Amino acid sequence: MYKQGDETGYWKGGGLGEGQGMMKNQGVIYGRKGEVEATIIVGEQVVEIAKEEWKLSINRCRNLTVSSCCLFDVCCHRWKREASLEEGGVGKEAWIVHNQNPKLSSMTSSSSCSSFTYICCLLLLITTMASAQLTANFYNRTCPTAMSIIRGGVSTAIARERRMGASLLRLHFHDCFVNGCDASVLLDDSATITGEKTAGPNVNSIRGFEVVDTIKSQLESSCPGVVSCADLLAVAARDATVQLGGQTWNVVLGRRDSTTASLSAANTDLPSPFLDLPQLISEFANKGFSAQEMVALTGAHEIGQARCGVFKQRIYNETNIDPSFALAMQRNCPRTGGDANLAPLDSTTPTVFDNAFFRNLVNQRGLLHSDQQIYSGGSTNAQVDRYRLNSAAFFTDFANAMVKMGNLSPLTGANGQIRTNCRRPN
Ligand code: HEM
Repeated sequence: MYKQGDETGYWKGGGLGEGQGMMKNQGVIYGRKGEVEATIIVGEQVVEIAKEEWKLSINRCRNLTVSSCCLFDVCCHRWKREASLEEGGVGKEAWIVHNQNPKLSSMTSSSSCSSFTYICCLLLLITTMASAQLTANFYNRTCPTAMSIIRGGVSTAIARERRMGASLLRLHFHDCFVNGCDASVLLDDSATITGEKTAGPNVNSIRGFEVVDTIKSQLESSCPGVVSCADLLAVAARDATVQLGGQTWNVVLGRRDSTTASLSAANTDLPSPFLDLPQLISEFANKGFSAQEMVALTGAHEIGQARCGVFKQRIYNETNIDPSFALAMQRNCPRTGGDANLAPLDSTTPTVFDNAFFRNLVNQRGLLHSDQQIYSGGSTNAQVDRYRLNSAAFFTDFANAMVKMGNLSPLTGANGQIRTNCRRPN
């Protein structure tokens, strides 16, 4: 996808035409991990980043001019455009701001830098070096016990109440879909912060905060100020899934915690159980997920429970539901009232992470309207059939999609902080 650029020597990016680097109307530049290290600037504005770990750079640069942006970075290079930019950039100069590159030292003194008006070859190497990408061994030196502390905390919580595994998995999802995996979901309301806990999808629904607190205080005892709440959530979600029977995945680490939350984003960015398939597909597409990944992620409903209020409409009014299943659900979910009464999302094996959820869907025993939508004669039917027959396929796809979800816009480097108490900023 990327070609060798001719002006930077080491830039591996290339044309930004649709299908080459930039997707039309999406403003995403794709690069293989570890390969592309660049922030793209069009005219006076930073418009893109190539990788998530460049968030530091884009945050710094977003509202700045190229020249001031360059002051924050190490080196800027004019880039010979090989394809016109799809949006906003046609006819303007495109810039690539490099930093965190092993060839920095030689580049800073090169003529390609000095030939520009702007002061390019400066400072902040330390800051930019800190904007590292997430890595598997992030805490190996700084908190070698972190992983076992989290695993132990999850295990204790699940032994006390098996549903807690589901609740922890969901917390990570509700964190990541709202402005990225930054533990914003954990922030309490305060005089200065309106948290996300009262958002429609969260209120009286998300749980597990006390478990997070317990694990966090153990982490703080062992390694004060080191392990972020966002990483805690990511690892706990994985460990909970594994402890309930699911497949493991590698959690890369190094996320930092936000100092703010967004109630409005929590209200808009988390999917509603009343959505139809096309809306579900589009809501996940908004976060960069394919329909296939959406289906795999919905498989999280292998475990956990839902309140009568969110499935009442389905069990009384919908027709694509097994009548005996509807009747059974109605027993604990009356037509009026009882909205907080619970029922398992997977009525076959409610506390085991297997593939029974997909078998239920084929038998029209999905509890949520949105769940049944992925097996309602639409484009995702075949995938549900595949998962129903092949749990390994589901496990693999789920694990991969969870890794992707966990990488949604993490704060790294100098951004955010390591909260001491997950409920409030330091
Ligand atoms: C496809 C769109 C999704 C919708 C519309 C949706 C909606 C819901 C709803 C309405 C509940 C019940 C909440 C309650 O009544 O208190 C629920 C529970 C749950 N969701 Fe989702 N969800 C979706 C995707 C996901 C994803 C992607 C994950 C995780 C990767 C997830 C994990 C869970 C878990 C584990 C529970 C049970 C939580 C518990 O028992 O505490 N969901 N979801």
